[in-house]
Parts: sequence; structure tokens; C-alpha cells
Amino acid sequence: MSGSAESVLKRCERLGRVSEEPDRLVRRYATPAMREANELVGGWMRDAGLAVREDAAGNLIGRRDGPGKTLVLGSHLDTVIDAGRYDGPLGVLAAIAVIERFWDRALPFAVEIIGFADEEGVRYPTSFLGSSAVAGRFASGWLSLEDEHGVSMAEALRAFGGDPGSIASAARRPQDLLAYCELHIEQGPELERRGAPVGVVTTITGQTHAEVCFRGEAGHAGTVPMNARRDALAAAAEWMLAAEAVARRRQGTVATVGRIWVEPGARNVIPGKARMTLDVRHTSNAVRREAIADLRAEAQRIAAAREIELVWEARGETAAVPTSPDLADRLADAIEATGHPPERLASGAGHDAVLMAEVAEIAMLFVRCERGVSHNPAESVSAADVAVALDVLERFVGALA
Ligand code: HGY
Ligand code: MN
Ligand code: MN
Repeated sequence: MSGSAESVLKRCERLGRVSEEPDRLVRRYATPAMREANELVGGWMRDAGLAVREDAAGNLIGRRDGPGKTLVLGSHLDTVIDAGRYDGPLGVLAAIAVIERFWDRALPFAVEIIGFADEEGVRYPTSFLGSSAVAGRFASGWLSLEDEHGVSMAEALRAFGGDPGSIASAARRPQDLLAYCELHIEQGPELERRGAPVGVVTTITGQTHAEVCFRGEAGHAGTVPMNARRDALAAAAEWMLAAEAVARRRQGTVATVGRIWVEPGARNVIPGKARMTLDVRHTSNAVRREAIADLRAEAQRIAAAREIELVWEARGETAAVPTSPDLADRLADAIEATGHPPERLASGAGHDAVLMAEVAEIAMLFVRCERGVSHNPAESVSAADVAVALDVLERFVGALA
């Protein structure tokens, strides 16, 4: 059972019950549920013979000593709201299973498995917190960001057992790292379409995040005539449809408004303020930036026509990141050696590998997931596909030796 796909899936299921809420999976940064997850996964790491610690940002790290540089495997242990069980955890638990398979085999390098503490950016308006710390890219200003209950990141991290004052100590030096390899569910339908259990990631998409706010004027829903209104939500609605059209005009562009806050927020009050999140992605940085420029121009046009104020706040950007061609070839070789086609594909989702590329050569192995469904409790992978992925990762690690 040790090191098998069945044991990995059993652990995914067990970890999937570690949640902030009883009826759905939510595990955000530095919450008691994350504490429980780190204890649970840390125990599995110990059982696999790893020395376990947490860094100052709350990342869980299991190390197997060895000579020379360190090969880092892993993914994230936090989740979105109402999440599936595999986005993130599968990569951590698969890495543990692969290291279990090497229990009686020496490797000429050390291996660390990292369960990153935040990748999804759900609790605070930043993502990739865990891997940013490991990559030495954690901005100290983030520590004063507050969650929806006014708890600052520094307070939350302290309560979690981390150390906001020494986040810099979590940073790793490129000269110490052999490579970073992340196994992850595909989160899209491409492998299923191609009939392949696994695939090698070539590029990880770039992303731009923003908060966009329309400020009009609140008023009485019964007395203000339609032609005298400055309705912030109507402006937002017009802009959201424009955003959809802008993205559709450019092949491969995706634009999402995932959350909206309306104030004052009552049936009989004209909305005075509508604030939204924006997430725009493309594997070409130039195309993504053009789309952002168009989206801003549309927002300005709509705001001006409706005599509404527009506030556009940038919330971060990551460039598209290519994986290492050499490591991608090695993964492809490992896939072929297991008797499967070495499919290659781009990732439309962001991953910890994006930040890890700052300090190491990166590789990613995708596992087919049912109908490409992800960020949804219906996320599903088959034991047969996970078994292939484990064999591929085992061969990849063994061949690096
Ligand atoms: O949003 C993403 O792409 C990732 O799932 N956090
Ligand atoms: Mn995700
Ligand atoms: Mn993920």
C-alpha cells in the first residue's frame, strides 16, 4: 500500500475532511484548519522518514538528507472556497508516496517536499504567499493586509505559529537547489481530450489581478428617476459584459470577475458603490497586457458616460513562465518509459512553480482530471492515472540521480 496510488487517494480524501467549515472544503492561509493539515501531512512525512519542519511563513517542509543540492518536490496545501480535494494536495501527497518508494535506495542529492501554506490567495488579496517566501519574493508590506474580519496577516501568522518578523529566513538560495518539480491535476480538459493520463507542462500562464471599483451615488429606489441615476452596479454590469467581449476578441485570453461587493446593499437603495475582483490571463505577456489596457479603457468609457468615478487598483501580476526544456524532456522520457504518449501542454492555472522559477529550474507534471473540473468539489482523478503519474515521477527522480 505504501507509495501506491490508492494510498495517495486515501490520504487526499482524509485531508479533504480538514476544513474550516463542516459542509464544504475551505482551507485558507494560517487558519486552524491549515494547522491541522500541516500536522496530518507532517505525520505522513515523518512516517516516510523525512525530517519535518515549518518555515517562518508556515510552509511545511519534509527533508530527506543527501549529498549536494536539494531536489524540491511539492505543491500547496491551502484551498479555494468549496474546493475539491486534489488541487494542491495531490502534488504533496504524491511526492511523499514517491519518496516512500525510494526508502531503500540512495540518491546523490537531498530531497525536500514542500506543502506550501498559501497558493490560492483566498484569505488575503495576494496569492502564492508560501512560494513567494521560499523564492525570497515575499513583500513585507503584505503582512499588514487584513482578512475580511480585520485580522492582519502578521497576526494570523503569529497565531499559526509562524514568524512574521523572519519571513526572509524562508528564502532559499538558487545555488542550493537542484530543481523544483510539481505534480498537479490539469484543471482543464486537454489531457482528457487527447486520451492521455499525464502530460508535461511547457508554460504556465501569466496573470494580472486587480480590484475595480465604480463609485456612483446611492439613492432612493422609488424616487430617483432612471435618467437621474448614477448606479454603480449598472456600470459594473455593463463593464463585466465588456470584459467578456474583450477577452473573447483575443484567442486564448480569459478574464474573470469572481467577486463583487455592492454598497449599501439593499433592495430599495440604488447601489452607490460596486467593487469587483478581476483576473486576466494569457500565455503571452504582450496579449495579456493589451487585454488589460482594453479593459481599463472600457471601464473609463463606461464610467465617463455614466458620470461615475472609477478606481482601478492593481493587485499583482505574474509573467508567463516557461518550464525548463531539459527537465520537460526528462519528464517526457519518463512518460514514454511508462508506455504513454509524452503529451505537452500549457497551464492556464497558476502554480507554486511560477515563484519557484525564481530560484530553481522548474518542471511540472499534469494528471488528467475528470471533465477538467477544478475549483469545485466535483474535482476527480482516477487511481489508474495517479498510478501512472507516480511511476513517471519515480522514474524522473531516479533518472536525475
Ligand atoms: O488561480 C490559480 O490559477 C490557482 O489555482 N491558484
Ligand atoms: Mn487552485
Ligand atoms: Mn493548485
